[in-house]
Amino acid sequence: MPKKAPVIVIDGPAGVGKSTVAREIARRLELPFLDTGAIYRAVTLTMLRDNIPPSDSPELRGRLGEFSVSFSGVRVFIGGEDVTDEIRTPHIDANVSPYSALPVVREFLLETQRKQQKDGLIAEGRDMGTVVFPGADLKVYLIASPEERARRRCAERTTKGEHADYDEILSQVRARDEMDSTRDIAPLKPADDAIILDTTDLSFEDVTARVMSFAALVAEGE
Ligand code: DC
Repeated sequence: MPKKAPVIVIDGPAGVGKSTVAREIARRLELPFLDTGAIYRAVTLTMLRDNIPPSDSPELRGRLGEFSVSFSGVRVFIGGEDVTDEIRTPHIDANVSPYSALPVVREFLLETQRKQQKDGLIAEGRDMGTVVFPGADLKVYLIASPEERARRRCAERTTKGEHADYDEILSQVRARDEMDSTRDIAPLKPADDAIILDTTDLSFEDVTARVMSFAALVAEGE
């Protein structure tokens, strides 16, 4: 009988490199990839465009009811519009946490996220292991010092030819950590059964290799 494809989740704070690692694992294991930060970013963009503030209101609920996000490879779409670049701007970085902290937004997005999982999946975010896919076959929680995460974000921006100020990025990373980990609903924390991997002194290749070895152990255990 063919083996069931695994559900692997990778959680952790902003700028820890979850996306890059998770994408590579998905490519190697030939599994679909779900970037849940992109979904929260797409909701934030939608609300900002309509000037709907981050509080539970009839306007916000109404707009959420019409919201639909889809993926095609690395591209992200709201309805039919490609918003891949627009959801990654500093403006969205600065506004996404208050919308993500709203219970009404998280509850609505629970179903959006779960329905992406048909046959095996690599999902990355903040609460994949604790809330969205609590029964995942493998849960990895990546951490790295705020300084290292700010350095990685800076390098990423510079590579894209964008302006990057280390001190400004470091204070944004800290502010986002604070908001994401102290919110009442689904705060940023590892699941009890997650493997915690500190990537501060590890290269992208090292992190990928370690996660691949955890995934191999899961596959053997089946
Ligand atoms: O991973 P990211 O930087 O693209 O995520 C953007 C924001 O979305 C982040 O500040 C917190 C929120 N988020 C969340 O609350 N839950 C998730 N599963 C993923 C992201």
